[in-house]
Amino acid sequence: MDAAVNATSTSAPDVEALERELTARIDAAADEAALEAVRIDALGKQGLVSGLMRTLGQMSPDERQIMGPKLNRLRDLVAETIAVRKAGFAEAALEAKLRVDAIDVTLPAPRFYQGAIHPISRVLEEMALIFGEMGFTLEEGPDIETDFNNFTALNFPEGHPARDMHDTFFLGRNPANDPNTDDPASSMAANRERKLLRTHTSPVQVRTMLRQPPPIRMICQGRTYRKDSDATHTPMFHQTEGLVIDEKTSMADLKGVLMAFVKAYFEVDAVEVRFRPHYFPFTEPSAEMDVRCDRSGGQIKIGQGDDWLEILGCGMVHPNVIKKCGLDPEKYQGYAFGMGVDRLAGLKYGMPDLRDYFGADVRWLKHYGFSPYLLPGLAQGIAT
Ligand code: PHE
Repeated sequence: MDAAVNATSTSAPDVEALERELTARIDAAADEAALEAVRIDALGKQGLVSGLMRTLGQMSPDERQIMGPKLNRLRDLVAETIAVRKAGFAEAALEAKLRVDAIDVTLPAPRFYQGAIHPISRVLEEMALIFGEMGFTLEEGPDIETDFNNFTALNFPEGHPARDMHDTFFLGRNPANDPNTDDPASSMAANRERKLLRTHTSPVQVRTMLRQPPPIRMICQGRTYRKDSDATHTPMFHQTEGLVIDEKTSMADLKGVLMAFVKAYFEVDAVEVRFRPHYFPFTEPSAEMDVRCDRSGGQIKIGQGDDWLEILGCGMVHPNVIKKCGLDPEKYQGYAFGMGVDRLAGLKYGMPDLRDYFGADVRWLKHYGFSPYLLPGLAQGIAT
């Protein structure tokens, strides 16, 4: 560099030597800071190239004609070389960052990012899948129901003990306790106005029949409520309900559908079921269905052993229900069934105490929960 500067002060500067020197320094710069130092040395206000440009003014016109273009070229070349080198640094930095940040998308997600699907959600999904395959649609209804939908339309007579059997949670004040009304008839009527938490999913049968013409082939699923709490009962529990209304249905159809369901759900071909006569106000005849199981050894095994386990209630829809829902019982009949989801989940996945389901204990959920990446499907098996 000294050579070049000296050359300026004595005679014509050695532009080529300066160019070689600056290019070498640019090449040698190890990082962006070093490169910036070279840029300031060369092109900054006090820089070498800028200094030479200033000497143009003192030159003779002939000299200037030669030196002007040379210096302009040098200035542009140095700027360009610096820019190229700088872009190289940026690219290398990006590549290094990409190398560090690289993730192998085929690796399993880290455990701590992973939530779990609650067994109840899982089982609801499995059930919907099985009935969906059998041509059932999925209907919905609210948790807060009217007395009409939950009881009256389902053929529970006024004041019938079956209403009390359901241990209903009513909403609002009980009119029977109102000191201002001692007329039992009017307090009973007022009671019928009260909203309640549905005690079963059967009111969705009513809603569906009132809304759409037959043929109906639906299931509904959801929360249900009764004042009850021990290891096998929780005040909030879940049901899956089915309803078929058509001109010709039979108990044999009902049995076929339920057998197919049980086989698919428990993934056991040898499942054996039995029907016991029962009473529900909204079906006639009514039955409860049990599955054969083995309880020896503290574990319940489905499809073997000498024990029976009740899993659902069912029957042919009572003509009064069909009439109350605005259909002609001479023309239409059907069957219905309702099952406890929580109980069936416990049976399949070995969870003994239903109260744990709703304890919101993350350790329980980690143990019994399902990976959100493994969704149930009929193709790959519902219990993947
Ligand atoms: N709703 C009944 C219950 O909760 C179950 C049921 C549904 C029975 C449909 C027959 C038909 O116990």
